[in-house]
Amino acid sequence: MNHIQKTDPEIYAAIMNELKRERENLELIASENFTSLAVLEAQGCVMTNKYAEGYPYRWSKKTGAINYNLYGRYYGGCEFINDAERLAIERAKQIFGAEHANVQPHSGSQANMAAYFTLVKPGDTVMALELSHGGHLTHGHPLSFSGQLYNIVPYTVNKETEQLDYDELEALAMEHKPQMILAGASAYPRKLDFARFREIADKVGAKLMVDMAHIAGLVAVGLHQSPVPYADIVTSTTHKTLRGPRAGLILCKEEFAKEVDSKVFPGVQGGPLMHIIAAKAVAFQEALQPEFKIYQQKVVENAETLANALIKKGFKLVSGGTDTHLMLIDLGPEVNGSPSGKKMEEALDKAGITANKNTVPFDTRSPFVASGIRLGTPAVTTRGMGKAEMEQIADLIKRVYDHIDNEEYLQELKKEVHSLTDKFPLYPEL
Ligand SMILES: Cc1ncc(COP(=O)(O)O)c(C=O)c1O
Repeated sequence: MNHIQKTDPEIYAAIMNELKRERENLELIASENFTSLAVLEAQGCVMTNKYAEGYPYRWSKKTGAINYNLYGRYYGGCEFINDAERLAIERAKQIFGAEHANVQPHSGSQANMAAYFTLVKPGDTVMALELSHGGHLTHGHPLSFSGQLYNIVPYTVNKETEQLDYDELEALAMEHKPQMILAGASAYPRKLDFARFREIADKVGAKLMVDMAHIAGLVAVGLHQSPVPYADIVTSTTHKTLRGPRAGLILCKEEFAKEVDSKVFPGVQGGPLMHIIAAKAVAFQEALQPEFKIYQQKVVENAETLANALIKKGFKLVSGGTDTHLMLIDLGPEVNGSPSGKKMEEALDKAGITANKNTVPFDTRSPFVASGIRLGTPAVTTRGMGKAEMEQIADLIKRVYDHIDNEEYLQELKKEVHSLTDKFPLYPEL
């Protein structure tokens, strides 16, 4: 950072403040993680300078297979860029057992856009998880391309179990005959049954798209059923449980490969971010190591411990718990006088605990206020925290809840949070 410090002290200060915040605070946002230094290094490398529109291969006219060569690019000088992208592709295919991987999407949202553009046309009916029940904005929010271009029929969780009821989902699909069913979520704490989704899709002649952004790390090591054998297209982010750079990824069957490639570029993007693709390759290599499986096992164990400890302290969790890396505290409706998710998020922040407000199924508050708090264990597990710390975190959360209006108490609590995080140094080399 020597150079930024000299040339741009304001940005240097912002970066150093962010590093301090990440080190000191307890990071419980379910979609965040801390990348390795190797991933950080790749993101800051000279590949950011290179234009490389196109792909590191051409499709053989004879066999339809991919031939890695320089002719798939619209720019010269791509020989080393091609090495990086080829490695990222091969590693992604190896991790997930996919027939084809496109590693160019700049983000999860752009991966989703390219997947929609491949599988459905504007005006088609798409069934996706209701946003307030855990779906992502790109699963049909009226301001997202998805809500603007497609006829979205949202499916919900069951009111009693707060989990997906596949028979209800099937009945809805039979009624609406969608062209595509989208499985995947941003705030659903339970496992998804992709085999059952496929059955339902087949029954109504729909395509199946799976957005595994949240659970990709779990899928990579076999802790969650893989969507790859069942879905026509699987999309993901690479920065959540997968612990890579902030970006997107698409996996698909050979049948859709060419179309997916052309929908990513030039469909929705221009030149690929080659430094980020290099960083994805580094992260994928890490995900292929045996330690990555141990890490994911700890993420899930920690989530289970945290969920059980919160329940013991009297919190209600959506669906009664978790079997993934995330959980949702349901704080209760306004009529009961319970604090909103917004208020709890702010109080947690004052105590140095970072989490986000979230709607709960059948929420009566608006998404800007919400009745829930979403918590996840990927980032604290990366720091090395285990079951004892999860018990401690549940206790800290309960004390925040009990003293939600007491600024002084929350400031004092922050010191306890900092002494906990101090024991698990983050990026000591930086
Ligand atoms: C399920 C899911 N899909 C897609 C995305 C979008 O990813 P990005 O923020 O990289 O566009 C998210 C982000 O939180 C997500 O949770």
